[in-house]
Amino acid sequence: MDIVLAKSAGFCFGVKRATQMAFDASSQHERIHSLGPLIHSPQVVEQLEQQGVRVCKQVAEIPDGAVVVRSHGITADEMQDIDEKQLEVIDATCPFVKKAQEYAEKLSADGYLVVLVGEADHPEVQGIFSYAKGEAVVVTSAEEVESLPSNRKIGIVAQTTQPFENLQEIVDACLVKAKELRVYNTICDATTLRQREARQIAAEVDLMLVIGGFNSANTSRLARLCKEQQPETYHIETANQLQDAWFESKGRVGITAGASTPAWIIDEVLQRLNKISG
Ligand code: F3S
Repeated sequence: MDIVLAKSAGFCFGVKRATQMAFDASSQHERIHSLGPLIHSPQVVEQLEQQGVRVCKQVAEIPDGAVVVRSHGITADEMQDIDEKQLEVIDATCPFVKKAQEYAEKLSADGYLVVLVGEADHPEVQGIFSYAKGEAVVVTSAEEVESLPSNRKIGIVAQTTQPFENLQEIVDACLVKAKELRVYNTICDATTLRQREARQIAAEVDLMLVIGGFNSANTSRLARLCKEQQPETYHIETANQLQDAWFESKGRVGITAGASTPAWIIDEVLQRLNKISG
């Protein structure tokens, strides 16, 4: 059985950095917390808990010590609450997300109506949105641009994981309305590259495995995309979920993994597959 492993499988730059920062900080602080689970991998979150990193939902739950900010960032108000409580901050916000926050802040300070392209209920979007101190809206599609006021200065930023085509359609729609238009393309390539490579591999193999947390939106999306190319696609979290029967008479098996899947989980799956194929 041939195994084709995607080059882009596993941690993206921002998640790798955040995880490393959290593990490093755990050995230096007696009381340490993360605001929400650090990444969408229950296995990594469990390891961090064993190192003393306690998951809290809100700043109010953290009495003292240090707090790790996740790669997709937090809101300006949460950051202010942390400052007021004089907690030590380990800011693992991905630099690409940080840039989007800075652009939103700058655009609103310069009098632009900020149009943030993304999913309103996503914590990254809520964080970016909070930095726009003036008028700002979150839009998910070009149709929603119709209800925006005309003849205004419009400034656009995007959630880092947005599809490029969606940003392009929204830019086109805003161009028709705006007196002046400024666009910051804050989309991160990591997601697009991973999806493109996964699709290509899925189209060429007999079975596709997508590894990552069941609570990870980017992994679930990856699994859906692969399924469109290869109906025999399985989304698994760990090697224990592999079933020998899936691989009977399969010549080529493809593997990819979400941005929050650590290398050791991918390695365990590879080892298990080597055993199955003898
Ligand atoms: Fe950062 Fe891109 Fe990952 S924005 S967290 S490197 S998907």
